Amino acid sequence: TEVKKIAVIAGDGIGPEVVAEAIKVMKRTEELFGLKFEFEHGLFGGIAIDEKGTPLPQETLEICKRADAVLLGAVGGPKWDNNSKELRPETGLLGIRKELGLFSNLRPAVVFDCLKDASTLKPEVLEGTDLIVVRELTGGIYFGEKFRREGAHGEEAVDTCVYNVTEVERIVRQAFEVAQKRRKKLASVDKANVLETSRLWRETVNRIAPDYPDVEVEHVLVDNCAMQLLRRPSSFDVIVTENMFGDILSDEAAMLTGSIGMLSSASLGEGSFGLYEPVHGSAPDIAGQGVANPIATILSVALMYRLTFGYSEAADAIESAVKQVLDAGHRTGDIAADRAQALSTTEMGDLIANALEGAAVQA
Ligand code: NAD
Ligand code: IPM
Ligand code: MN
Repeated sequence: TEVKKIAVIAGDGIGPEVVAEAIKVMKRTEELFGLKFEFEHGLFGGIAIDEKGTPLPQETLEICKRADAVLLGAVGGPKWDNNSKELRPETGLLGIRKELGLFSNLRPAVVFDCLKDASTLKPEVLEGTDLIVVRELTGGIYFGEKFRREGAHGEEAVDTCVYNVTEVERIVRQAFEVAQKRRKKLASVDKANVLETSRLWRETVNRIAPDYPDVEVEHVLVDNCAMQLLRRPSSFDVIVTENMFGDILSDEAAMLTGSIGMLSSASLGEGSFGLYEPVHGSAPDIAGQGVANPIATILSVALMYRLTFGYSEAADAIESAVKQVLDAGHRTGDIAADRAQALSTTEMGDLIANALEGAAVQA
């Protein structure tokens, strides 16, 4: 078997806790499917600021660049919240996405039947919900020029939102291609009634839509989309949108699944290389307690197997192992009806790793 190199950057807070469970699952799939991985760990985020004086050390970037895929936990925490921009964990996250050319962030939100009660929404509203947010990841207001200045009425802060047509076209094309492999419905989300970047976005979608005649396109304003996601979630298939709208809408979509601890993601560029991370953050409020839900990170491994390596059997097995464990009623605190019965992070990881064998036989 060909050895695949995995860069592991666990980060801060619950990052290392959930990443350990994902690696546990990967090791089990090595045995069951004859896969072979070589893990190389790198410092990243707040811990890297503490130990190396920068959130994204050059050495960590090199580890990622020579890997076939990156497994990332999460970064950030109160300890670094008042730091200057260069010394913030989040700046490292934006830096790694940019440096690796990962402009496309796929965030699937699938409602497991047995978790319908874990959501704050009514089960009948969630019925059949299976959507994916395709978020532009290396442009927009996150990366535009930012500065402070003295204005006529005191200090001013400026964030600029810039998109060029090339950036818009490449992410929109990816979203059309994703839609072609799914239910062929694309909702393009913007704020074209106000923003110039959104008008360029919408023009671009309309210009290239004829190249994908089998995909039905709807334009939705972002405020309306935020509302429709709660009103009729199952009517969405693929949602494509700019960086900040995608950030916000994907956390909203997480709640359809019951918990942000369930939402996985893949960040891709033009090739098969990818970075895989849960959508959630470092959860400082529960860090160090061993109670975080590792499923988002474990499902991110399934995305890695499918999208970077083409290990579709092993990817299917991970997803069905997760489903089996949930169907059997096992829950971490974030999705448990009865907190007293909740499992720890490692217990959940063990159950999923152990369910893989049965899932592999079924697949
Ligand atoms: P968060 O996602 O870390 O937490 C939001 C809430 O969800 C918290 O109550 C947390 O306990 C809960 N939660 C999150 N993941 C969970 C899991 N796996 N299991 C159970 N519960 C979970 O968002 P936040 O509190 O706004 O941000 C905390 C820090 O994380 C900040 O520093 C922020 O910048 C950073 N952050 C990092 C990433 C990333 O690394 N990709 C993403 C989002 C936020
Ligand atoms: C995410 C996070 C990041 C983002 C932050 C931590 C910079 O919220 O990955 O969704 O906004 O992209
Ligand atoms: Mn976010």
